[in-house]
Amino acid sequence: MIYTVTLNPAVDKTILLSNLTVDHVNRAETVREDTGGKGINVSKMIKNLKGESMALGLCAGKTGEFIEEQLDKMGIKHHFIKAEGQTRTNIKIVDKMQGTYTDINEVGAGVKEEVLKELEELIFSYLSEGDFLVLAGSVPTNVSKAIYKKWIQRAKEVNAKVVLDADRELLKEGLEAGPYLIKPNIHELEELCGQKIDSPEMAVKLARDLMKDNIEVIVISRGDKGCIVVKKDEALLIEGLKVSVKSTVGAGDSMVAALTYALHQKDSLKEAITLGVAASAATVMQEGTIMGEWETIKELKQKINIMVIE
Ligand SMILES: Nc1ncnc2c1ncn2[C@@H]1O[C@H](COP(=O)(O)OP(=O)(O)OP(=O)(O)O)[C@@H](O)[C@H]1O
Ligand SMILES: [Mg+2]
Repeated sequence: MIYTVTLNPAVDKTILLSNLTVDHVNRAETVREDTGGKGINVSKMIKNLKGESMALGLCAGKTGEFIEEQLDKMGIKHHFIKAEGQTRTNIKIVDKMQGTYTDINEVGAGVKEEVLKELEELIFSYLSEGDFLVLAGSVPTNVSKAIYKKWIQRAKEVNAKVVLDADRELLKEGLEAGPYLIKPNIHELEELCGQKIDSPEMAVKLARDLMKDNIEVIVISRGDKGCIVVKKDEALLIEGLKVSVKSTVGAGDSMVAALTYALHQKDSLKEAITLGVAASAATVMQEGTIMGEWETIKELKQKINIMVIE
């Protein structure tokens, strides 16, 4: 089974209007609410790929109930531990006249130590050999930045594989425990390594230095430029697909989902990255947090060209 974890989920409220004016009353034309949060997005894409996952995490209050209802509607298995307060709402204002996107993100409430412990026990009551655990996104402000590191260590004790998609301290700490796969974008990798990366060869070298002996795959995503995949004895470059972009939200999550889904079913790295690039491109063709559809992904897969760096 694939388990995704979302410690800091959100309800994404997208408000469509014309000509947003500050210091004035603005009228919304349409309003839609979607479930958000990186782990949940990964589960949504796995569903679109006709795969199965279970979304785990923390949720709270009415907005938390909304998330559970939406996951039920989408047919995604889930088990969320109830925390105090309200799951955050992130507001996205789309101004169709000015063509602007304005985000107002809530930080999200802190979480009590015992609630976090309850979630940890839940995760490891499910996880067993051969499973994949996706740890993605930010964590509540009062949670230790070493949380993913601890969970990676525990997952390895049961021979489960961890896919880590986090940045800054969470990534830095997490790396020490040796996750199976990480998917930094190029900026996250530059920040991690403390230097500008100006060629694919340099990206490969830095990835290899990070891998040591305990990380198997590093996928460096490069937005519309595609991605670079690095293993100990293999490095591939895939150019981005030229598609009409509606919203890049969820692109990284779609790539993580496709990689996880494919590698969990023991597809080759080439097959996994082909699906990853197709799935993420299909998602950028969709509005807001809507994930790419299987029919589009199937078509895009045909257009992918893999180049071997070494
Ligand atoms: N404009 C685009 N056109 C085509 N494909 C894109 C575009 N933007 C992103 N992608 C695809 O999505 C993948 C992930 O994008 P990106 O590198 O922006 O991830 P990210 O910064 O982690 O995103 P996220 O904000 O979801 O965390 C890319 O490797 C590429 O395959
Ligand atoms: Mg990302």
